[in-house]
Amino acid sequence: MTGKPSLVSGIQSTGKLHLGNYLGALKNFVELQNSGKYRCYFFVADLHSLTEDFLPAEKSEQILDLATNYLAAGLSPEKSVIFQQSEVPAHTELGWIFETMAPLGEMERMTQFKDKSSSQKENINLGLLSYPTLMASDILLYDAVFVPVGDDQSQHLELTRTLARKFNKKFGKTFPEPKALLAKIPRLMGLDDPTKKMSKSRPGGCLFLDDSPEIIRKKIMSAVTDSGREIKHDPKNKPAISNLIDIYAAIINYSAQQVEKKFEGAKYSDFKKDLAEIVVKSLEPFQKKKRSLKPAEVKRALAKGNKKANDVASKKIKEVKNKIGLF
Ligand code: TRP
Repeated sequence: MTGKPSLVSGIQSTGKLHLGNYLGALKNFVELQNSGKYRCYFFVADLHSLTEDFLPAEKSEQILDLATNYLAAGLSPEKSVIFQQSEVPAHTELGWIFETMAPLGEMERMTQFKDKSSSQKENINLGLLSYPTLMASDILLYDAVFVPVGDDQSQHLELTRTLARKFNKKFGKTFPEPKALLAKIPRLMGLDDPTKKMSKSRPGGCLFLDDSPEIIRKKIMSAVTDSGREIKHDPKNKPAISNLIDIYAAIINYSAQQVEKKFEGAKYSDFKKDLAEIVVKSLEPFQKKKRSLKPAEVKRALAKGNKKANDVASKKIKEVKNKIGLF
């Protein structure tokens, strides 16, 4: 054990990742890992992903693909604990204990629960409701102090803190209260419709991390644009070009104004061409590494991470059970 503070984050294995996932999560994970300041745990949230419809054959592919994405982006099994949630039974055990402590009313008021219950009406399962208690378990099992997430997860983090506090008060000091490390997540909108979030459910307007350079160029060149001809960041009146500017800015760490300046007087088509090239270039190392990774190698990395995660989590769940009086 080092004295570094622990940091935990995960992504649900629900399908192909897009550029927004890369810029908002993966890239950030790699930077946090490489800062050397934290003891890092990054996992595949496969149990959480079961709350959405799926096919078993696809599910195993999605788990392996997400783990491959982690490694391709630069997460390293030497520097971080990279693991699969369902392979560490303590997550569900502590999840259940937290379910018995979470106020039902508060769970029902969670924005994500309300959103998902209205977007998947034919599958409003209990897991959608208890999703945040499992998430609290993911975090607290590792005594995490920091949790890099997007602000859509703030409510879940708040619940995690509340549960930690409640548990500590009732059973004695057991968990630190974790803080969200809110990632500056660029809100990428669809290339096909800049009023809707970029989403894998509309593949034509979505830049997937696995898209070939040809496809990326095609999607960007055919992205909808606004009337007028100025490259101007004005989300209200020019949502399409503003979104393209945001993508450009996020990739090269520019402000929108710096991008505007660079393309002052340029035509939409020239800007798009340039954007396509920087997207292609920025994904090149990731894609190259991904092609070189063999499934067996990824599985080995996961097995190693699963073991390390289990070592830590099984001790913690024992401590929890003892405190509650379950022995
Ligand atoms: N709920 C997170 C999301 O959808 C994924 C997740 C599950 C997570 N467990 C976590 C993130 C624990 C951070 C820590 O983005």
